[in-house]
Amino acid sequence: MAIERTFSILKPDATRRNLTGKINAIYEENGLSIIGQKRILMSETQAKAFYAVHAARPFYKDLVEFMISGPVVVQVLEGENAVTKHRDLMGATNPANAAEGTVRKLFAESIEANSVHGSDSAENAAIEIAYFFAGCELVG
Ligand code: PPS
Repeated sequence: MAIERTFSILKPDATRRNLTGKINAIYEENGLSIIGQKRILMSETQAKAFYAVHAARPFYKDLVEFMISGPVVVQVLEGENAVTKHRDLMGATNPANAAEGTVRKLFAESIEANSVHGSDSAENAAIEIAYFFAGCELVG
């Protein structure tokens, strides 16, 4: 199995409720190492560009407003099959549909305030990591 990297965000609803440690513990206990991490307040410009792929979706404006409503923790996770493993640990976008034991089932408040983001492919992970991190900030 290949060692991969993926990009992760702990969203404003998670930082507001001091859940970052609990979520990180789930990742680490499941073989994902946090090789880069910082707490930031995303600018509107940053959030709009990050979610540009969803610009035509009806929820785009709300999503951007939510993501700049408080601090987020951006992270790079590394491990075997990291992209798929992380998505599995996160659970479905809508917590109502998320499997038992997943981060969104445990912690998400709604489809908007759903606690975490994770890249959906290795290609997008590389793009998203480069958007927030310099190479020298990642220590594997
Ligand atoms: S898709 O079609 O699979 O790309 O869409 P999905 O992964 O379900 O959602 C993409 C991101 O949009 C967020 N989202 C929403 N935000 C606010 N309101 C509503 N209704 C809504 N539906 C989806 C969802 O949390 C995803 O955010 P990220 O940060 O990528 O997880």
